Amino acid sequence: MVISSRPFLDTYLAALGSSKLVAYLSLFFAAIGFVNYVSFGLKSINLLLQLFVLSGKNLKKYGAGNGAWALITGASDGIGKEFSLQLAKKGFNVVLVSRTESKLVDLALEIKEKYGVETKILPFNFAESKSSDYTALAALIEPLDITVLINNVGQSHSIPVPFAEVDDAELTNIVTINNLATLKVTKLVVPKLIAKKKGLILTMGSFGGLLPTPYLSVYSGSKAFLQHWSTALAAELKPKGIDVELVLSYLVTSAMSKIRKTSALIPNPKMFVASTLSSIGLQRGAQGLAATSTPYWSHAIFQFFIENTVGIWSSIVSNQNLQMHITIRKRALKKAEREKKGL
Ligand SMILES: NC(=O)c1ccc[n+]([C@@H]2O[C@H](COP(=O)([O-])OP(=O)(O)OC[C@H]3O[C@@H](n4cnc5c(N)ncnc54)[C@H](OP(=O)(O)O)[C@@H]3O)[C@@H](O)[C@H]2O)c1
Repeated sequence: MVISSRPFLDTYLAALGSSKLVAYLSLFFAAIGFVNYVSFGLKSINLLLQLFVLSGKNLKKYGAGNGAWALITGASDGIGKEFSLQLAKKGFNVVLVSRTESKLVDLALEIKEKYGVETKILPFNFAESKSSDYTALAALIEPLDITVLINNVGQSHSIPVPFAEVDDAELTNIVTINNLATLKVTKLVVPKLIAKKKGLILTMGSFGGLLPTPYLSVYSGSKAFLQHWSTALAAELKPKGIDVELVLSYLVTSAMSKIRKTSALIPNPKMFVASTLSSIGLQRGAQGLAATSTPYWSHAIFQFFIENTVGIWSSIVSNQNLQMHITIRKRALKKAEREKKGL
């Protein structure tokens, strides 16, 4: 039996009167509206399921509790320190890499005492980009069963600053640490993961890279670079059994953000990392962005809202961001002036 849509169309056209063009146009726009409505509904349901019902991949898949090692960069403070502690708690031995040796020693001791796993440390200033440090890192991980890499190390501008006034050393450090170091460390680890046909690579992205951010333009660009690189790498390594994910975050309390008080929109590193490690493989707020996750619930809802209203590339967002960072810069300069006067 063939069902014809003619009777409906005829009735519809008759109801609209003589203008067929108006009738077809209105049908066309109604269809687009319906598709958008359904798609928004499905995305909303998916977001809620991923945030509050579904669980991420079990870390046992990567050898947690079975002698496997996780390598964390920027491990001695903030989000990296929490990754180190929480991965150790889940049974990974940990390689801790960051700048300050004394902080690494203390953290390694704390991890050993609390969780009884093995630890290795490597003081490494990524800003210096010394080949001897990369050689030392390669030698350190050579005998280890590394299955997890957390590319966490990162630097931002000390305060928001117009691009023309960015200090040359700061510009070089941001790109060297956020981009060059991330790529070079990953390149040391990837062959080991390919050989084992399993592994997990998480790289810390940022809303500063998701949304073009004036006055933090070098940081913003460096994090946007990581978005494309990580998503491309994810597609390359998926057939080899390796999971690669860019992790997006809005503000988290830390030395970098200079924020100490938590709020609904600003978790502490412990809360942020717990949500990240429990949602591996779930995009949460980063729907539509392949191999990307915005794990923390309020960050996810914030991103979903922006993407489904004004859009992340809109001039509304970058103008709003510009005004916000001009204000933050003014406040930071006033504070520096007060400190200079010893007030
Ligand atoms: N906090 C936020 O609001 C936020 C938001 C979005 C994304 N992120 C991203 O999350 C990551 C971690 O940020 P965080 O806030 O946790 O930072 P943080 O508290 O400032 O900690 C940074 C860590 O990186 C290490 N580090 C800094 N410069 C280094 C260098 N040149 N060489 C080696 N190690 C270095 C630090 O070592 P020392 O202890 O020795 O200084 C410390 O362990 C970054 O990639 C950041 O872009 C943060």
